Amino acid sequence: MTKIVYRLYTALLLLGVLPAATAQQFITIATKSNALVYQVNAQKELNTVYFGEKLLNDTDYARVAKEYHQGNEYTGIYNAAYTPSGSKNLLEPAIAVTHADGNTSLDLHYVSHTTTAVTAGVTQTEIVLKDPVYAFEVHLFIKSFFDTDVIEQWTTILHNEKGNVVLGKFASANLYIKGNNDFWLTNYYGEWAREMRPEEVRLTHGVKTLDSKLGTRADLLQAPVFMVSLQKPATEDEGNVLMGGLEWAGNFRTDFEIDPFNNLKIISGINNAASAYRLKKSEVFTTPKFWYTLSGKGKGFASRNIHQWARKHKVLTGEGDRMTLLNNWEATFFDFDEAKLKALIADSKKLGVDLFLLDDGWFGNNHPRNGDNAGLGDWQPNKKKLPNGIATLVQAAKDNHVKFGIWIEPEMVNPASDLYKKHPDWVVKQPGRPEHYFRNQLVLDLANPKVQDFVYGVVDDLFTQNKDLAYIKWDCNAVIFNAYSSYLKDNQQNFYVDYVNGLYKVLKRIRAKYPTTPIMLCSGGGGRVDYGTLEYFTEFWPSDNTDPLERIFLQWEYSYFYPANTLSAHVTDWGKQPIKYRVDVAMMGRLGFDIVVSQLSANDLAFCQKAIATYNGLKPLILQGEQYRLQSPWGNDAASVSYVNQGATEAVVFAYQVSNRHESGTKTPIKLKGLDANASYKVEEINIYPGKKPVVETAVFSGDFLMKVGVNPNVNTTNTSVVLKLAKV
Ligand code: DGJ
Repeated sequence: MTKIVYRLYTALLLLGVLPAATAQQFITIATKSNALVYQVNAQKELNTVYFGEKLLNDTDYARVAKEYHQGNEYTGIYNAAYTPSGSKNLLEPAIAVTHADGNTSLDLHYVSHTTTAVTAGVTQTEIVLKDPVYAFEVHLFIKSFFDTDVIEQWTTILHNEKGNVVLGKFASANLYIKGNNDFWLTNYYGEWAREMRPEEVRLTHGVKTLDSKLGTRADLLQAPVFMVSLQKPATEDEGNVLMGGLEWAGNFRTDFEIDPFNNLKIISGINNAASAYRLKKSEVFTTPKFWYTLSGKGKGFASRNIHQWARKHKVLTGEGDRMTLLNNWEATFFDFDEAKLKALIADSKKLGVDLFLLDDGWFGNNHPRNGDNAGLGDWQPNKKKLPNGIATLVQAAKDNHVKFGIWIEPEMVNPASDLYKKHPDWVVKQPGRPEHYFRNQLVLDLANPKVQDFVYGVVDDLFTQNKDLAYIKWDCNAVIFNAYSSYLKDNQQNFYVDYVNGLYKVLKRIRAKYPTTPIMLCSGGGGRVDYGTLEYFTEFWPSDNTDPLERIFLQWEYSYFYPANTLSAHVTDWGKQPIKYRVDVAMMGRLGFDIVVSQLSANDLAFCQKAIATYNGLKPLILQGEQYRLQSPWGNDAASVSYVNQGATEAVVFAYQVSNRHESGTKTPIKLKGLDANASYKVEEINIYPGKKPVVETAVFSGDFLMKVGVNPNVNTTNTSVVLKLAKV
């Protein structure tokens, strides 16, 4: 095919003009910088021949394979676009099935493909693959978000066999990256209050798996996001790096396999552990989406692409505003009554935040929620604490010109509750085995439609009874022990998948009726966040650990994958640092407070009030701007992050001391990024504590100077945080 003919062909294919019947040998999915190229071979197998930075000549993709050592029939190593199990492939499969007749082999042959334009800059390719022997099909979906270099992949699986087919593995995506000298994997492990701890290793030959089997709050021990650097570890501004993650609120599994020819396969999907899924005839099984982006310009470029994509296409109201709030959890825990809450509502107004958020402890009567051992499931206001219900608090908020939000944990139940006693069959637990609790609670069986109705009802009732309810914090504090659904009867292996699909059904219903009300995705910290779930939520709770020093590290790591407007960041008493340090750190996300306002000193209060007003002015920059990680907290005395608006006319720079060693601090300037080299910027310190002098002198610099030489924020063990505002002059 000549270059011109090939280009014309690709363009027509992308426009969806070519019918499937005319499909040729290559299928190209393009983003602004990259190309993913599949090839249908003579045996009708679909293989990945290229994934990487676009080649200048389209015709060159056909030559790529020739330059590499390839698997062959003697090795069982293939570059299948979606690797089947039980036939000639002998490495990690993307899909494994047991057919209705008990046969465990699968072969997938190309049938057709179509590419359609979804919206401006977004195209979706569907490739139909069929087993030549069995009535079994897989449709591969590849969605390209052109401008941001992000691709989403998922599959639908269906059959027309005489009986059920059991899916032993059912990945969403099967990436294949041609031989490199090295692949470096960064993954994140954690636990309560120490989430998102990064570790980077050079992948060796064989399979490395990242997974979760916790059922709910599936990211608690291992995050579903990762990075793979190609050739050598990428830095913020240099190197080839792939970032990705599964969009699924439950068990995930991502395999990284390097074959003896140094090709890397990344297979990601729902974890198949204890989940051999029974698929009925004609039922369509849809796998969750797997997102990824490949950057040739380091991690910073990848993150900014992810942030733009997430705000525009994934996060609920991702391009909308976020409210500041006062949360009562750390101020009261379970110990409050109407009078105390009304005082806190008045404090919200005094502080200047938009909303008061009532946390855990407001419900349960026969089993009052005065601690974490009772009441979950009984979502009626506690008559002793709140004799006039929630409505009076919503009204008090209205009177104080602040909005009102409320905490719920609707997927859970305490054994000490009316709900547990009334509906023991709604609870996930093994019949005949002792119950095993996580935070004294059990998980409700969302595979059961009646439970889905109940959970939907918890939210709907709150909104119906309180028309002015403006915010929800949706918590999830237990994992699933003793997985068993009495609803699924002899179909237990479908439980983990059906649970999450049940949750999504509820969330879809909620969003159909309440499309934009902000809801925080919380999980006793960062045990739950992914882009599938963020379609229903406006923000998430990265960790219960709100010590600002810890948060600098946590927020730094989360920021690789999630934009600032999704990160709930609250000022609390954790760590006992000066209020300025705490507020400056929390300003890097959706700002909130969880402190006793009445106990603040006059200066601390004045500082917070002014900082909230300042933050409101900075919101477009922080929440919608381009983020640049300037200096890492790892291995440095100070960390620094900036946000620059579109057009680079304004920026804000945060710098934080992260060491208390003698004489530590910023001894050298921090080079800024993303500015206009030819413009001049006034650099001014803001967010200064009452009575203190600025530590950075206001001055005008060229963008060129700021990016090549930088500015010293002068943070040290005395000035532990500094915020600089830049404006083009
Ligand atoms: C865990 C959350 O992370 C906290 O913020 C708080 O809401 C508690 N649950 C309430 O039980």
